[in-house]
Amino acid sequence: MKLSELQKIIQGIPKTELHLHIEGSFEPELMFEIANRNNITLAYDSVESLKKAYQFNNLQEFLDIYYLGAQVLLKEQDFFDLTWAYLTKVHSQNVVHVEVFFDPQTHTDRGVPFSVAITGIHNALEKAKVELNISYKLIMSYLRHLSEESAFQTLESSLPFKHWIDGVGLDSSELGNPPSKFKNVFEASATEGFKLVAHAGEEGPADYIWEALDILKIERIDHGNRCLDDNALVQRLIDNKIALTLCPLSNLELKVIKKMEDHPVAKMLEKGILATINSDDPAYFGGYMNENYYETAKALNLNNNQLMQLAINGFEASWLSSDDKATHIATVKTYFNSLN
Ligand code: ADE
Ligand code: ZN
Repeated sequence: MKLSELQKIIQGIPKTELHLHIEGSFEPELMFEIANRNNITLAYDSVESLKKAYQFNNLQEFLDIYYLGAQVLLKEQDFFDLTWAYLTKVHSQNVVHVEVFFDPQTHTDRGVPFSVAITGIHNALEKAKVELNISYKLIMSYLRHLSEESAFQTLESSLPFKHWIDGVGLDSSELGNPPSKFKNVFEASATEGFKLVAHAGEEGPADYIWEALDILKIERIDHGNRCLDDNALVQRLIDNKIALTLCPLSNLELKVIKKMEDHPVAKMLEKGILATINSDDPAYFGGYMNENYYETAKALNLNNNQLMQLAINGFEASWLSSDDKATHIATVKTYFNSLN
């Protein structure tokens, strides 16, 4: 297949995005614009010099710069503009459903109220629902390098906005911060009616995935690359239809894999794991949904059946209703049939 044809096919697939940190969609141009209007001086003097700093040897090196960028977000309008920019971008890539993370503590720890961040994000998501026909869920993520006590405070702050939040997640520095550290706050979050996901097995071992499943009782794993180290775990994921939200360009940029040809997604599909493709932090890792599909398909020689399975898995793994899942999956199948 010609590569331009592959790009065209990927563009046409109705897609989901289930693993996206809104702070990770902060493009340098918008970052400078918002910094200027908030009278904040960034540590970099131009978009170009900032972009040059986007070279990471591991997750922590990325997180350090990602938290720095988020510091220019102060007002509701800033969060709205950030979220709206992401939504218009993925709309142009035929993404029809998104499940978006935000990191409340990254903002509340700087004195930006929880209400300011969530209202800006929520208003943009609602606008996209009406104007772009994108459905959405919102997930607040606890930062695992902070204490469980801090996560509890975040849970408390979120309660007046409970009707805007669908689930909780766990992100930030994985190594040394196992899921078990957050057992109690995940239990309390479930009691409040939130769905549960967690990053696990990105840099951390397969044991962290077990902990996320058995101790936090999560229903979907963010990343989960390391599951392949453990056959019993792979079987558990298959038997319980636990989805993985994989992020190929993120894995490449954070050196989770050496080259895209090493990405485990094809192996996972072959085993029957509910693997999905997502972008994680597209402004930092060189691509949104189409680019993630494209680079993966190119490196692993994915055929149309595998691409279709990935798109279907995205809807299966989503928090859409069964009826909505069925409708979208039928559209995906019709699309791929039309290519033959
Ligand atoms: N926060 C934003 N992106 C992340 C990632 N890939 N892993 C952990 N925490 C994150
Ligand atoms: Zn992530």
